[in-house]
Amino acid sequence: MTPITLTATSTFGLEAVVKRELKKLGFEKQTVNDGSITFEAAAEDIPRLNINLRSADRVLLVMGSFEAYSFEELFENTKKLPWGDILPVDANFTVSGKSIKSTLYSVPDCQSIVEKAIVEKLKLKYKINWFEKTGARYKIQVSILKDKVTLSIDTSGAALHKRGYREDQVIAPLKETMASAMIDLSFWNKDRLLLDPCCGSGTIPIEAAMTAKNIAPGLGRKFVSEEWGIIPQAAWKTARKEAFAAIKTDVLPIIKASDIDPHAIEIAKQNAINAGVDDCIEFRTLPFEKLKLDRDYGVCISNPPYAERMGELDEVEKLYRDMGKLFRPNKTWSVYIITSHEGFEKLYGKRADKKRKLFNGNVKIDYYQYFGERPKK
Ligand SMILES: C[S@@+](CC[C@H](N)C(=O)[O-])C[C@H]1O[C@@H](n2cnc3c(N)ncnc32)[C@H](O)[C@@H]1O
Repeated sequence: MTPITLTATSTFGLEAVVKRELKKLGFEKQTVNDGSITFEAAAEDIPRLNINLRSADRVLLVMGSFEAYSFEELFENTKKLPWGDILPVDANFTVSGKSIKSTLYSVPDCQSIVEKAIVEKLKLKYKINWFEKTGARYKIQVSILKDKVTLSIDTSGAALHKRGYREDQVIAPLKETMASAMIDLSFWNKDRLLLDPCCGSGTIPIEAAMTAKNIAPGLGRKFVSEEWGIIPQAAWKTARKEAFAAIKTDVLPIIKASDIDPHAIEIAKQNAINAGVDDCIEFRTLPFEKLKLDRDYGVCISNPPYAERMGELDEVEKLYRDMGKLFRPNKTWSVYIITSHEGFEKLYGKRADKKRKLFNGNVKIDYYQYFGERPKK
């Protein structure tokens, strides 16, 4: 197996979660940068990574890195890379890019130079002058940060948060990868009740159930690199077979999910069916104000509304106050809330034990963590 370099990309703030996941999958040695974790692997590992990673955004195959201050340097260094080892003669490849704080700031120019350099390299290998691009897709990314160019190829295709179970969703759904990371950071486990009182399309409860049952997040979808010649088809088959075998069908966590909106509950129920976890989530339409805690040692993980729109702020602030009133008196509950509202702790009535800065798209959000007493063993 020839060693290759892969990068798992993540939302800013979730690098440690993805790092932990990679370690569990057997990739010990990693280099962590903002939003990316790079490690050595083999092409045969690409299926297992895409199918199993819960919090990463994508898995990229890194072709190479170098410094470039001129278009000539970009062209020559791109051309030096072994494109012919990865791209077949009919590769349908495209180049997209980004440039941050760099001399080469014109992204369209950089894209077109990288594309030209790759074509020149392929001409040498395949001895033809015209490439039909009718075969498998290869999405090449040129990323320039402070004059350092990294060229990679996306192995995932649609981003990894697209598990395939969320057919329909509410207005402000959480990314599945973020929901999964919130669960990971909460240290919730299958033996404790999990509650999401503002469940929307059900992302947090569904991701929790999938984690408890060890259902791999990518089992129900396809990946762009499934068409690539460098990955043996057997590696995809084996990775799927192993993931199916690892499902814990006998685990039935207790998960309660509610929302004020009956339509959201309908959507969430269908999504849970699609994900194969409807047997362990109890859904009901319920305004938070009516919620009661009928047992101790529960864990609430939720993504309540943030009031991005005018007119909603009063309701949202009342909801946050109600949350504090319900949970604060019960010292056995752990509460984890994600919101961009900077006054959350004040409204809840207590400083969080831990606060973690994250990003939901471009919106800065905080993950407020209140640790309750642990259940006695
Ligand atoms: C940001 S969305 C949650 C999105 C969800 N995490 C998802 O991925 O689909 C907030 C949800 O809170 C619900 N909500 C708002 N006020 C509520 C209240 N007082 N009680 C219960 N649910 C409420 C909304 O109906 C909405 O579905």
